[in-house]
Amino acid sequence: MKDIILIGFMGAGKTTVGKRLAERFRWDFIDTDEYIEQKAGMAVSEIFDRYGEENFRARETEALQEILQERKEAVISVGGGLPMREKNREYLKKLGRTIYLRAQVDTLVERLSGDTARPLLRGQDLRARITQLMELRSDVYESAADVILDTDTMHIGRIVREIAEITEDLRQAEKNS
Ligand code: S3P
Repeated sequence: MKDIILIGFMGAGKTTVGKRLAERFRWDFIDTDEYIEQKAGMAVSEIFDRYGEENFRARETEALQEILQERKEAVISVGGGLPMREKNREYLKKLGRTIYLRAQVDTLVERLSGDTARPLLRGQDLRARITQLMELRSDVYESAADVILDTDTMHIGRIVREIAEITEDLRQAEKNS
């Protein structure tokens, strides 16, 4: 498959960028959190509260398996923790090209302050929590990515344009090879 997959930390802009990209390409848009919520009939935070994080992680893997059965091209934005499972990274490779929307801790703190929806950020010092999770995750994000985009100073429109250009270049390179 040649889907475009957006990975990155919470607050990196994956969903917003993904929706805009899908509109531009006239492709389907899938957000794994929304997919899981619709299937469960529950918000992500409720799944965490009622069944715990591991249960949510299993749902993420299941969602990817199901999305892989879809044959239509799509832009897919995935939850910030999804690439941490090796199995999920294998599925991402099968699905298409992965783009890491990278952002610095300062940027993420700014974007996420006041957020109440994300269970992993509840009740803790935001900067310390983001720093701690980014230490665990950043190498994995980087190694899972075909393309890394530093988004700190970019607005959404520019990120969308850059990804569209990169994708077009990759397509041309493939055609010519
Ligand atoms: C999570 C990120 C969230 C959501 C869940 C866990 C994470 O998605 O999947 O709250 O582990 O980073 P977003 O990255 O879309 O906020």
